[in-house]
Amino acid sequence: MSDSQTTHRQAWRRTDDLTPGATRIKLVEEALPLPLDPTSALVKVYAVALNYRDANIANGGNPWPVIPNVILGNDAAGEVIAIGDKVKTLQVGDRVAPIIDTEYVSGREIGRSWLAANEDGVMADHIVFEETKLVKLPDHLDWISAATIPCAGVTAWSAIKGAGPGKTVLIQGTGGVSMFALKLCRAAGARVILSSSSDEKLAQIQKRYPAPPILTVNYKNSDWHEEIMRLTGGAGADIVVENGGAPSLVQSMKCTRRGGIVSQVGYLGNQDPAQLSELIPTIIDRRVVLRGINAGSKYDMEDLCAALSASETKLDDIIDKVFPFSEAEEAVQYVWEGRQIGKVILRL
Ligand SMILES: NC(=O)c1ccc[n+]([C@@H]2O[C@H](COP(=O)([O-])OP(=O)(O)OC[C@H]3O[C@@H](n4cnc5c(N)ncnc54)[C@H](OP(=O)(O)O)[C@@H]3O)[C@@H](O)[C@H]2O)c1
Repeated sequence: MSDSQTTHRQAWRRTDDLTPGATRIKLVEEALPLPLDPTSALVKVYAVALNYRDANIANGGNPWPVIPNVILGNDAAGEVIAIGDKVKTLQVGDRVAPIIDTEYVSGREIGRSWLAANEDGVMADHIVFEETKLVKLPDHLDWISAATIPCAGVTAWSAIKGAGPGKTVLIQGTGGVSMFALKLCRAAGARVILSSSSDEKLAQIQKRYPAPPILTVNYKNSDWHEEIMRLTGGAGADIVVENGGAPSLVQSMKCTRRGGIVSQVGYLGNQDPAQLSELIPTIIDRRVVLRGINAGSKYDMEDLCAALSASETKLDDIIDKVFPFSEAEEAVQYVWEGRQIGKVILRL
């Protein structure tokens, strides 16, 4: 094993106490899982990007099982500071991020193991992963931007697959996945229609990206799908990045082009199945392909990193706020309240 003096780490673990007003996450000092396995690497973390999922897990709302007192977080960027004897693909000094589902490498695996759910996450100053679970990050991105890639980035990449010059993509909400999708669509030459519950946020984004213009819709207006049809000359969007789930899915399909794609990414609305009564006639009538998104594989993340590197796409403009690592609780609460446009980051 390469030399490293580090034997302990600090990590934010969930308290599992869901009583109102109780502390949801706690900073702990603990021994690292050392010595390293021959094929593992020790990574010093420089940035952790937060997702809605972190706030949901902290508040006990994750719809999938979570191990007791889990370390929160699935998006981290850091530097390899030690490697096991048999590591072949990484060197000390490499800039890396772990994949967020460590069972999902090629896309053909049948199991799943999500960080911060089936296994510990990455909200820690040091993390240890097997080399095959780590992806090298683009050189042109700083730690803060690079930390947004594994979850928000790969999810956006998977959700807009098929978007290209001249295609229209409806992106719902102004959170992390949505803002990453907006960047990728613009790099790909696709037209963006962005929806939000906040006219103020929409105006801010239109100002940030003046040309080509971003079309906008406020999804608080109950007939927002008709507005999308009007904006697309009656055709509908080629791809929809669906974030609401049950309350908005049918409406999303109604404003998707016949034969178009709805990428189901989020579940931010109240998931009452009664709201899906028109699902079958609508999916048939519009010939919609409903595509379930579960982030993406390691190969997807490598493809995204290659695309970002080739286009030298910067991500500074989708960073909403950077908190120090010591203020993780405040950062999680900020995301829980949906106050961000884009990404919220912990800097170490
Ligand atoms: N399937 C996957 O692989 C995957 C991966 C990552 C995230 N997700 C899910 O995708 C969703 C977004 O994640 P995120 O990390 O980007 O969240 P985020 O950064 O917390 O952003 C959430 C934003 O979505 C908008 N929103 C809230 N309720 C909505 C609704 N009912 N319909 C449409 N938009 C709504 C709000 O934007 P405005 O304030 O502008 O209205 C809110 O700020 C979450 O449900 C998350 O769990 C899924």
